[in-house]
Order: sequence, then C-alpha cells, then structure tokens
Amino acid sequence: MVTAYDVAVARLLAAAEVPALLVGDSVGNNHLGYPTTLPVTMEEMLHHARAVARGAPDQLLIGDMPFGSYQRSTEQAVANASDFIKAGMHAVKMEGGGWVVPVTERLVECGIPVMGHLGLTPQFINALGGHRVQGRSPADRKRILEDAQALEAAGAFSVVLEGIPRDLAAAVTAALSIPTIGIGAGPDCDGQVLVVNDLLGMTCGPMPKFVKPYAHLGEAIVAAARAFATEVADGSYPDDAHSYH
Ligand code: KIV
Repeated sequence: MVTAYDVAVARLLAAAEVPALLVGDSVGNNHLGYPTTLPVTMEEMLHHARAVARGAPDQLLIGDMPFGSYQRSTEQAVANASDFIKAGMHAVKMEGGGWVVPVTERLVECGIPVMGHLGLTPQFINALGGHRVQGRSPADRKRILEDAQALEAAGAFSVVLEGIPRDLAAAVTAALSIPTIGIGAGPDCDGQVLVVNDLLGMTCGPMPKFVKPYAHLGEAIVAAARAFATEVADGSYPDDAHSYH
C-alpha cells in the first residue's frame, strides 16, 4: 500500500500495480503545509479522495478518516465514511482501539469496509507526547494485541501497525487472520505501507529510521527547476526548436 493524494501520482502508482492506495491524512503535513495531521478536515480529504479515485479506480482505495471526523458519535462516523464511499473510496481507515471498536462494527454493518490503525497513531500525538515508538512496555504490548483482536472481531478487514517493535508486530500478525500492514513495524507484517513522498525521496528534513527512499525526486525537481530558471534567464530556452513557425 502507498499513500496517494492526487490524480497524477495515483495513475503512476496504478501503473506500478501497487494493489492498495491510501488517501492518508498525511496529506496535511506532506501537501498542505500543516505541522501535523490534526488540522486536516473531511472537506480536504474528500477533495483529494475524488482526485485519487479518478486516477486509479481499479486499485483498492482507502480513505483516511481525519481527526474529529469519527470521534463525536457513531452516526458522525457513518455520515463521513459514507461520504468517502460516495467519493470513490472502497473502504475507510480509523486510528485507535478501544472506543473505535464499536464504531468499526457499525460501519461494517453499514457496508463500509474498515481498516484499523494501531501503535504510533499520529492523531493521538498530543496524548502520546510526540512521534514515539509504541508498545515497548508489557502493558502497551498487551493493549495493542487486544485492540487488534477486537478490531478483527468487529469486522475490520485489515489493520495498519505503525511504529511498534518488530517482535510485537510479528505477534499481532500471527494472532490475526486479517492482514496487517506495517509502517515502521518490521518485516513480519503481511503487507507494508509507505507515504509516497518518503518513498519517492520528496521529504524535507530528517526521515524516520524505517523510511527507505526508492528515488530522489526532491533533488531531481530542484535540479530541473534550477535548469529551467537558468535557461530562461540566459535566453537559451525557448530556442528555435521549441518555437512555432
Ligand atoms: O495518513 C497516512 O499516511 C497513514 C499511513 C502512515 C498509514 O495513516
């Protein structure tokens, strides 16, 4: 699974046969300039979801429920998840265990497939005290495992495991019959997800340990834009070959 936020990248990821695209609320920090995912609204998510659905309608498309779009009531969650389905998503993702379990059950009852998300859940950053690896204490490990099992029992079709020790991700994966999708959770999950900007090497600043950039598009974009600006300034672009006659 890879995140996608726009039609151009969605088309390219579909051409690469990436099976599942997540319209993640990470659009907030990666494309909208927010410091965290917390300010992202449903309106913004639907705007990006529609673009991705137009670009890659045949991939499995998952809309990420943003902070505040499912916390108020189960009916609020049903209304917002339904809007994602109307926007062309096939499923939604929600962060958290505990109270998210009955919300998951209700969405599944309504015909809306749900992907869970446990561990380092960025929407809980204020409660977690930052982007810290989760599940290091025995109590946290137990809670994450039990939450995963409860999400499966509630009907979730998959669970993202983010920022947890490799052995805990392996234990959760072994305990579930639905697939786990890891990010910073080691190689023993059933699948893996990366934020597309990280995968393509378009992230500014230091990257977390788990990120492996498979390209360096950030550098390529700076070099291309600099070359264009230089050639325009020195008059070598456009030349006669790039002109109409
Ligand atoms: O929004 C997002 O990109 C995510 C992934 C990190 C799983 O939730």
